[in-house]
Amino acid sequence: MENSRFIKACRGEPVDKTPVWFMRQAGRYMRVYRDLKEKHTFLEMCKTPELACEVTLQPLDVLGVDAAIIFADILLPLEPMGTGLEFSAGDGPVIPRPVRDRKAVQKLLPVNAEEQLGFVADAIRLVRREINIPLVGFAGAPFTLCSYMVEGGKSREFKTTKLMMYEATDVWELLMDKVCTMLVDYLKMQVAAGAQALQIFDSWVGCLSPSDYEKYVLPYSKRVFDGLKDVGVPVINFSTGTSTMLDLVQKAGGDVLSFDWRIQMDSARTLLGKEQPVQGNLDPVTLFAPIPVIREGVYDILKRAGGRGHIFNLGHGILQHTPVEHVKAVVEMVHEYQHE
Ligand code: CP3
Repeated sequence: MENSRFIKACRGEPVDKTPVWFMRQAGRYMRVYRDLKEKHTFLEMCKTPELACEVTLQPLDVLGVDAAIIFADILLPLEPMGTGLEFSAGDGPVIPRPVRDRKAVQKLLPVNAEEQLGFVADAIRLVRREINIPLVGFAGAPFTLCSYMVEGGKSREFKTTKLMMYEATDVWELLMDKVCTMLVDYLKMQVAAGAQALQIFDSWVGCLSPSDYEKYVLPYSKRVFDGLKDVGVPVINFSTGTSTMLDLVQKAGGDVLSFDWRIQMDSARTLLGKEQPVQGNLDPVTLFAPIPVIREGVYDILKRAGGRGHIFNLGHGILQHTPVEHVKAVVEMVHEYQHE
C-alpha cells in the first residue's frame, strides 16, 4: 500500500499518474445508494458495519478511483458526547441539545471510541478485506464540529459560534479542548482498525477572519495534527473558503493541504512551498457542465499543480444529482494526462 500512487503523492514522491478520488464519492448521486437508502436511514447505514462497508465499495469499481473513504459522518461522535444527532430529510443534520453555555460544555461526556464508535472501526476492518487501494478514515476538525454543536445544525452566519468565541472565550476553549481530546482518540482508533490515511474536514472554517482563525482555532487544530504525528499514516488537512489564509491553515499541520477552487493551484503551491503536498481543487458544480468544459477545468488544475505531490479531488464534496458519467470521465482525464 505504501507503493500506491495515492500514498506516494501524500508523501510528495513521484507517481506514474496523478491519483484521484472524490469527497462524497459514495452518496445520493448514485442509484445504488438511493436504492439502499429506501430501506435504511442514513444513521442506520453509518452504524451497521456491513451496510457502511457496502456503501463505501459502491463507487470504487464504477469510477476507478485511487482511494476509498470510509462511509460515516463527521457528526457521529456528537451522540456519545450527549448532544443527540438527527438527520431530517431536507434540513440536513439537527443537534437537538446544542451546547451554548458553560454548564452545557461541562456536561459533555468523555467518549470511549472503541466502545461507542466501534462500528466505524468494524466497518474499516470489513472494507480493508475487500479492496486493494488505500482506505481513508476521517473526522471533523475542531472548529467545524464545534460549530454544529453550538449552532444546533447548519448555519449561514455562525453568529452563535462566533459570539461564544468573543463573549465567553473560556467556554469556547473548554469546548474545543474536549472535542480535541475526543478527535485524537477517535482517529487513532480508525488507524488501528486499518485506515491508511486520515482526512480532517474543516468545511466551515472559511467563515472566520484570518485573525480569528489564528486566535481561536489554529492552536486547537494544531493539537489534533500534533496528536497524530506518530500514527504512521498521512493526514490531510481539508478546508474550504480559506484561500486568503492558507499560510495559517498550513501552520496548523497535516501532511497534505486540501483547499477549494477559490485559488489557482499554482498560486497555492507558490504560497505553500513546492514541497507541500496538496489536494484539490475542482469546483463540484463543474461536474454538471459539458464534457469539454470539464476537461478544460481538469487540465488547468493538473497543469498548474505539476506532476509531484498533487492528489486530484474536488474543492468540496460531490453534489446531489451530479451525472455519474461525468465523475467517471474526470477519473479518466486525470489518469490519461501526461505531465510535461
Ligand atoms: O465522502 C464520502 O463518501 C464518505 C462519507 C461522508 C459523508 N459525510 C456521508 C454523508 C463524509 C466524508 C462526510 C463528512 C461530512 N459530514 C462533512 C464534511 C464534508 C463536507 O461535505 O463539508 C460535513 C459538514 C458533514 C455533515 C453532514 N452530514 C451534512 C452537511 C450532510 C448533508 C445534509 C443534506 O441533507 O444534504 C450530512 C449527511 C450525509 N453525510 C449524507 C452522506 C452521504 C447524505 C445523507 C443522505 O443520504 O440523505
